[in-house]
Amino acid sequence: MKGPIPVRRAVERMRAYNPPLEGRTDKLRLDFNENPIGCSAAVRRALAKLSAASISAYPEQETVRRKAAKFFGVQEQELLLTNGTDEALSLVVNSFVDAEDSVLLVEPTYAMYRFYSELAGARVVALRYDAAMCFPWNNVLATLRAGPRVFFLPNPNSPTGNLLPLRDLRRILKAAERTMVVIDEAYFEFSGVTVIPWIRRHNNLIVTRTFSKTAGLAGLRLGCIFVHRELAAAMRKAQSPYPVNAAALVAAEAAMRDRAFIARTVREVRRGRQELERGLTQMGVRYFPSGGNFVLAHFGESARAKTIVAALTRKGTLVRDRSSDFSGEGYVRITVGTLEQMRRLLRELENIL
Ligand SMILES: Cc1ncc(COP(=O)(O)O)c(C=O)c1O
Repeated sequence: MKGPIPVRRAVERMRAYNPPLEGRTDKLRLDFNENPIGCSAAVRRALAKLSAASISAYPEQETVRRKAAKFFGVQEQELLLTNGTDEALSLVVNSFVDAEDSVLLVEPTYAMYRFYSELAGARVVALRYDAAMCFPWNNVLATLRAGPRVFFLPNPNSPTGNLLPLRDLRRILKAAERTMVVIDEAYFEFSGVTVIPWIRRHNNLIVTRTFSKTAGLAGLRLGCIFVHRELAAAMRKAQSPYPVNAAALVAAEAAMRDRAFIARTVREVRRGRQELERGLTQMGVRYFPSGGNFVLAHFGESARAKTIVAALTRKGTLVRDRSSDFSGEGYVRITVGTLEQMRRLLRELENIL
């Protein structure tokens, strides 16, 4: 037998991304920023009614796209539905980034920006938040002057929780004359800060949103891209014809109708976040203010964070060890759950500490 056919050089060079993917459903999942109260009952009812005809046909998305445009306050031509934000990010890279182009990130951040950029053979220019989790303004503005093709910027950022106000985002867009700025608003409902209305004025702006967080549809994979209509048409050419499945489409319609569920989630998370912050302060654990449904906490050295995460896992509570992003320091990202879930976590943490 001959040797295996080699994969592309870009794939060969990539480090494997190995998040814990299995065996999570029966645990208290505070590791992936999902919705701690699940999804709307209306979504489950809508899914139960999914007909054999809808399941056996290729999915038709235009009705949902029209409703989503209304829901988000944009024109239909300014919106693309995607298979989660992840497909949205991949579509951005496929549409704008050639091999050897540079892509700007401020790390630590959501891992899939680097993933898709490296997959495309792009050169990742990674700046860093400092130890106080401050945004590296001067370096960002200087790097934008060199015109990277894309700048991926989640607002708020995960795992640090940083939230940039509108005036700072305006500054970035102004400096990014030759760069497509992607503002990932996965946690918008918790932060209330959005730049979606700016897509008409700025043709170097893409905004992404997801149904995975407040709507609680992470398992169905649905996201959106908001972009100037001319660019939306160009990007649609780079997308496969059926990116979003029939179940996700039906669920999205029901989720958009149930605004009360979204409001309840946001309320619960705000209360849970206060409780978590109060408990961490009481235990003397340092944490960073967060605009999302998660909090980044510092537990000293990375070995200590590892021990704490393992002890919590043994008790059935999953949190995310992010120490590998911070050379030697022990940082853990904790998804905010309900008040009751936060009390359980704090009790367990107290026993461990
Ligand atoms: C900043 C950010 N964007 C996107 C996502 C994932 O979104 P989706 O489930 O729509 O792919 C996450 C998930 O944790 C995230 O933290």
